[in-house]
Amino acid sequence: MKILTVLGARPQFVKAAVVSRALRANGPALVEILVHTGQHYDADMSRVFFDELTIPHPDYNLGIGGGTHGRNTGRMLERIEAVLIAERPDWVLVYGDTDSTLAGALAAVKLQIPVAHIEAGLRSFNRRMPEEINRVLTDHAADLLFTPTNTATRNLADEGIEEDKVRQTGDVMYDAALYYGARAKRCSRILELLGLAPRRYLLATVHRTENTDDPVRLRRILAGLATSGLPIILPLHPRTRKRLAAFGLEPPPTVRSVEPVGYLDMMMLEKNSALIVTDSGGVQKEAYFHQVPCLTLREETEWVELVRAGANRLVGTDPEMIANELEKGVRDDWTFGMDLYGNGDAAKRISDILSRECTASPVS
Ligand code: UD1
Ligand code: UDP
Repeated sequence: MKILTVLGARPQFVKAAVVSRALRANGPALVEILVHTGQHYDADMSRVFFDELTIPHPDYNLGIGGGTHGRNTGRMLERIEAVLIAERPDWVLVYGDTDSTLAGALAAVKLQIPVAHIEAGLRSFNRRMPEEINRVLTDHAADLLFTPTNTATRNLADEGIEEDKVRQTGDVMYDAALYYGARAKRCSRILELLGLAPRRYLLATVHRTENTDDPVRLRRILAGLATSGLPIILPLHPRTRKRLAAFGLEPPPTVRSVEPVGYLDMMMLEKNSALIVTDSGGVQKEAYFHQVPCLTLREETEWVELVRAGANRLVGTDPEMIANELEKGVRDDWTFGMDLYGNGDAAKRISDILSRECTASPVS
């Protein structure tokens, strides 16, 4: 049985870390081939995750990153197809909603290789997001859809996707937070390195296209963050760093920008912050896992259950709104719903289902 996993961007490394481990626990009867598209390529966006999270070394690195959506996706499609023809896997496994996800899914279905999609069913209903297009197309190409939440499962039913293709397993990012939590506590020195005391700082991340590529929105976010009473640590995504330079913008004095950090350091920064401000999908959930309040710099979120539970507030990019919510956010009592993302066994459940499927319907 052979499963070929396609990944390429930071959040996919975190998700694949726990799923690859679960898959490989099946023993030698199940072989996983890892294909890294190269979408994220800086050492602190890629290699650090493979090293720290002991993700197996990729069998292929396609070295395709840094281009436009069309160019990246097209080049990935061509190269992944060649790998699939050479490897002839029984299933192709893709994660989330990046250009690497879509390229992997499309290359596989065109060769009639079944596709499994982890983190299926997420919708922002905002078609201007490149990720939304990637999600919808990948879900409709997939043969097996692993959903993290009730909402995701319902979204797929609403789009007419057959129920028997959908398995609600919980969220593999929750598994990762549980699995690596103790290791982060043991290994990370980030608080000492940055001279931070627990709950005496905020953590921010900003990288969404709609926030970084629009100078007006980016300026408004910085203006909002400028009002914080507590220092804000901002691990800067390379996309954001490049846009700040191109627009001649600088973070305000309240914001301390640092290079992107590894997952273990990120967990410690999240866990100990008084409040998280972000436009990241993964970081919104991790705030909840660590029971830290979260403000989301967007008008909508795919993770609607967080907002309903009272663990996340959508603040958009209006500086006054951000300022008010920053001030209120550190004072308020926040509520966190229970068990929104499963039991922490999503990776094992996915691996068990895939092993059964591989045995039931081998393609090669
Ligand atoms: C991508 C995903 C997004 C995800 C994010 C996670 C798509 C459409 N978007 O966005 O859903 O939330 O990854 O971080 O796939 N760059 C570097 N070094 C790197 C990586 C990127 O310099 O290691 C710079 C390059 O200029 C690149 C730009 O960042 O062109 C954007 O990278 P890209 O992978 O296209 O999109 P992200 O914004 O990272
Ligand atoms: N992350 C990290 N270091 C950072 C920023 C994020 O390890 O400097 C982790 C974060 O903890 C989460 C994942 O990267 O596990 C989320 O990735 P990102 O925000 O880039 O993408 P998204 O989830 O929005 O697709």
